[in-house]
Amino acid sequence: MHHSSAPAKVILSGEHSVVYGYPCLVAAVDLRSEASVEIIPEGIIDVISDKLGRQSFNLAATNTEEMSPIASVAASAIEMAGHRGGLRIKISSQIPMGSGLGSSASVLVSVASACSNALGLRMSSEEIAAIASKGEEKVHFRPSGVDVNIALRGGAILYRKGRLPDSVKYPEEIKLILGYSGIPRKTGDMVKGVADFAESHRDRFEICLRSLGDITTRMSQALAENDMIEVGSMMLLNHVVLCLLGVSSEPLDKLVSSTLSSSALGAKLTGAGGGGCIVAISTSGYEGEVEQKIKQAGGTPFVVGISKEGVRSWTDRQQ
Ligand code: MEV
Repeated sequence: MHHSSAPAKVILSGEHSVVYGYPCLVAAVDLRSEASVEIIPEGIIDVISDKLGRQSFNLAATNTEEMSPIASVAASAIEMAGHRGGLRIKISSQIPMGSGLGSSASVLVSVASACSNALGLRMSSEEIAAIASKGEEKVHFRPSGVDVNIALRGGAILYRKGRLPDSVKYPEEIKLILGYSGIPRKTGDMVKGVADFAESHRDRFEICLRSLGDITTRMSQALAENDMIEVGSMMLLNHVVLCLLGVSSEPLDKLVSSTLSSSALGAKLTGAGGGGCIVAISTSGYEGEVEQKIKQAGGTPFVVGISKEGVRSWTDRQQ
């Protein structure tokens, strides 16, 4: 059996603007998904997921358009390998779905990598990114590629569409406090909402995007310099601009402002918005106080570190 795992992500700045070519500061966090893949003689892709249940696709009778994102990633790998049989794929994930933490990209990168190893393809990172991104296109509307790239690489990166990401330095002991609103949302719907906003408020949209670009650049410098007060200020500014773009919501605003009456240095929504999560940072050692405020405001808090490790693969010894 061939296994791969990949991390979840937290966008610190640049969600939505990244779709339009602006930079995005994103970190991998220590929540992971795992895919285990075995070759089977039957011509099917059999997907067994802890969150989505079991689904099988007959390779002869189903075209990739009709397949689920996970199965279509596996079908691309089967085609690349010229493999005649099928694959059984088991998936487990610690990442809540629809929470803005990149659960689909993490799963699709794990699946692409484990399929590549099971089929002896030795795919490069670029090839894994390419087939995982095809799956992401089925999940989201116009994915920028940021989620797939951070799941592959780990650490913290400054990502721009169509360019190789730059690694960003960060204080190793940094803790991110997440607050889950409990409201799932679809990234594609939020991205479409922003596209509508761009049509109806062109000038305001351009100003928001340029501001998000500046905030992201300033935040990555501050992170590299361990200036957490500046990182926190940029997070707050970022949240306000995302509100103007129309992607926040009452529960998210409530969670963000709850953290500000504690020792948080800053907070913002993270990911596509609407529902999902907020992210906050605090002075080291005061994370518990921020968690308490998030709980009181009706959210579910959890504290995560930045994960250095991107996708990781291993094989059971008996093979
Ligand atoms: C989703 O994690 C971030 C968005 O910017 C969409 C994307 O980049 O594809 C909202």
